Amino acid sequence: MSAPAFGHLSSSVSSPRTSGDGHMTAAPQEIERGSDARPTSRVGVIGVGGMGACHARNIADIAGAEVTWVADPDAAAGQALANELGTRWVADGNEMIDDCDALVVACPEEYHSGYVLAAVDRGLPVLCEKPLTVELAEARAIVDAETARGARVVQVGFMRQYDERHVQVANALTSLGEVNHVRCIHRNTKSTPRPVLEILVTSMVHDIHTVRWLSQSEIVSVSTSTVHRDGVPRMVVLSCRLDNGGVASIEFDEAATGYEVSVEVSAQDGNVLAAEPHRALIRNRGAVSSKIGDDWFSPFLDTYRIEMRDWLASIVAGEARGPSAWDGLAAQSVATAAAASEISGHSEAVTLPDRPAIYQGDHS
Ligand SMILES: NC(=O)c1ccc[n+]([C@@H]2O[C@H](COP(=O)([O-])OP(=O)(O)OC[C@H]3O[C@@H](n4cnc5c(N)ncnc54)[C@H](O)[C@@H]3O)[C@@H](O)[C@H]2O)c1
Repeated sequence: MSAPAFGHLSSSVSSPRTSGDGHMTAAPQEIERGSDARPTSRVGVIGVGGMGACHARNIADIAGAEVTWVADPDAAAGQALANELGTRWVADGNEMIDDCDALVVACPEEYHSGYVLAAVDRGLPVLCEKPLTVELAEARAIVDAETARGARVVQVGFMRQYDERHVQVANALTSLGEVNHVRCIHRNTKSTPRPVLEILVTSMVHDIHTVRWLSQSEIVSVSTSTVHRDGVPRMVVLSCRLDNGGVASIEFDEAATGYEVSVEVSAQDGNVLAAEPHRALIRNRGAVSSKIGDDWFSPFLDTYRIEMRDWLASIVAGEARGPSAWDGLAAQSVATAAAASEISGHSEAVTLPDRPAIYQGDHS
């Protein structure tokens, strides 16, 4: 795979549109508040928990789009959000799909593929939260269905591509040559014990995508090392080989240190570290401290807004351009191989089909 190319969108791993200084730029067809000359996207939001409600409120805040339906089997939650946004609620998302121009899928992952396939079948733009699916076969079915249609409609919620700190790293890499090493650190504060497979598929899948995106390479093999304490997985470390000859390490720490995500990339001509968020340094009683925080949501509030604005603008532009179903499948394939490595104790190859043409250079 060639050297990274983030400033333009001919990259093989999907990139959002960014300016040279690392800031997200408005797409040419950016929806303007108050403009009534533009078509309005009627969006259905499936699942109104933490992410779905966040996405629905962000849509409601963007002119040129409206939430026409929310769907959730939880009637109280669905009706409450529908009342707040002045829209309609239905228990079963399948019942409103044909009354929407676009869908946001933010229900639990085991239900993603049914809704996404229904959207692909109708040619409806769909923003599906990560992971694209739980089962690899489901992700392949989505890629196959989209390929058969001959055009992309699916965007996957790998939102770090819209995060200012990550975008700055990506843009810095455009002038630093081939990527040699990506190091992702992801510290969680989850107190409920969960199996390694769940950590891989629902949490580390973000970092797996970050490695692919920043290195502009596919992960070809992965080796998993896990530290269990009292029978509970606490650290999961992936060592990856990239198809550009580089390597990556992804460290996931399920300890109670606070929620933090960071990335450092070494390339041929330099090294880039995602800058720390601005935080007050408190000097007190002979010590310096700074608050990390323990929730995963608030550090990315702006990121979710930018992601939504760009997705809605891509609908107006008639071109899907964010992280693709291919990215979803590739990340899922790495997570599956990592789970196999956890069991075998050996490095496992990541198997991917040939990349269909609709996912090549689709972000120019
Ligand atoms: N991009 C990110 O940073 C990020 C962060 C957190 C979660 N997520 C993903 O977003 C998705 C939702 O996560 P969440 O944290 O909002 O979960 P949540 O549990 O807060 O909400 C899920 C909602 O979906 C509803 N639901 C259950 N079955 C449904 C069905 N068949 N159809 C429609 N709705 C259904 C539930 O009643 C609930 O209201 C998951 O895929 C998760 O992995 C992404």
